[in-house]
Amino acid sequence: MKFETETIKKDFPIFDKTKNLVYLDNAATSQTPQVVLDAMDAYYTSFRANIHRGSYEEGEVASATYEEARAKVARFIGADTREVIFTAGATASSNMLVSMLEHSVEKRVTLFLPEKGLPFFGEGDEVVTTVMEHHASLIPLQEFAKRQGLTLNYIGLPYGEAGLDYDEALRLITPKTKIVSVMLASNVTGVINDVARIAEMAHKVGALVICDATAAVGHMLVDVKKLGVDFLYFSGHKMCGPTGVGVLWGKKELLEKFEPGVYGGGIVDDVTMEGAAWSGIPMRFEAGTPNIAGAIGLGVATEYLTKIGAENIREHNTKLTQEAVTRLEEVSGVRVISEKDTNKNVGIVSFVVDGIHPHDVADILGKNGVAVRAGHHCAMPLHTVLGVPATVRASFYFYNTREDIDALIAGIKKAKEIFG
Ligand code: ALA
Repeated sequence: MKFETETIKKDFPIFDKTKNLVYLDNAATSQTPQVVLDAMDAYYTSFRANIHRGSYEEGEVASATYEEARAKVARFIGADTREVIFTAGATASSNMLVSMLEHSVEKRVTLFLPEKGLPFFGEGDEVVTTVMEHHASLIPLQEFAKRQGLTLNYIGLPYGEAGLDYDEALRLITPKTKIVSVMLASNVTGVINDVARIAEMAHKVGALVICDATAAVGHMLVDVKKLGVDFLYFSGHKMCGPTGVGVLWGKKELLEKFEPGVYGGGIVDDVTMEGAAWSGIPMRFEAGTPNIAGAIGLGVATEYLTKIGAENIREHNTKLTQEAVTRLEEVSGVRVISEKDTNKNVGIVSFVVDGIHPHDVADILGKNGVAVRAGHHCAMPLHTVLGVPATVRASFYFYNTREDIDALIAGIKKAKEIFG
């Protein structure tokens, strides 16, 4: 497909309604194209019914469309359809995965690779994660580690760099390691981690590998098989899909062993007074009525993004990121905190302005029609490591333009005038 931002922008009603919107908060949530809105609207107006229940026409169409959405998402990330579990978003996915682990441990399900042969966690076992994880991944893991009596170790960053310290990863991932959790791209520095390298280290010692791919999916090509991880999750709303829907992907041979994370209707083959027998995958993990319209919208979002092209998206974001970094560094008093090597940056530029609080910078930008986020971006440990309590973050997507960067720079200069 020929890539023209001005044409692409027309796919998004918000840019028609708010002509001067400079939307640079895509790492918080992206905008929604009309095709996604139409798909959700069709569900509500033409075939709204619950799924996997009604044997009337609307019920059958709803079920089929929901399952088609699952297949679309699976294709988009190189997965088997049965490996895609719809959730309410990345936070729900990471919490559910922890519950699945915990419920499995309680039932002493053999979770680990056969050669490891460990049915549950033992004394001295460890979990390894990174200092850059989003709170949505980090807090469930911290709580899990505490409850299970596991030591949690953190892979840090080499001094002055945004990427992970792979030597430290090698030192930390040992035969005591049972779980390794690493994000694919940071929502603060934009750095794209070499997850395949970490997964290889982890698998050598028989650990499970979890990947938070929320800032990456829809912004770069993500293929679960190439990454070599065991579980991966993301939200729909950062990739042109609706809010309130996300995905937890897991290798089917592992999912088949896992207990449900959440209990309820729709996940069982049989229920007696004594207990229940679980359905196969992925139904076992989708208790209750899911976000049907959301899943349908997400499926269409993956088709839309495929049409735009992952390479085009990546190339466009890389160019804008490069330009933003260069121009921000030309403004005196501005310090770029994010990954400056744009080949390793998913499209996020975080920075600080000397003497002005990030929230004040964001306020002035907001008043001038430039949407950015300021704060710790749900990654407080990373900000501690970086030595800044908060940053201003401009995050790009394929509908952004060079003019958006002009507006960003002009807004920062205005903030400097006001607070200077
Ligand atoms: N995780 C989202 C962000 O980084 C909300 O802004």
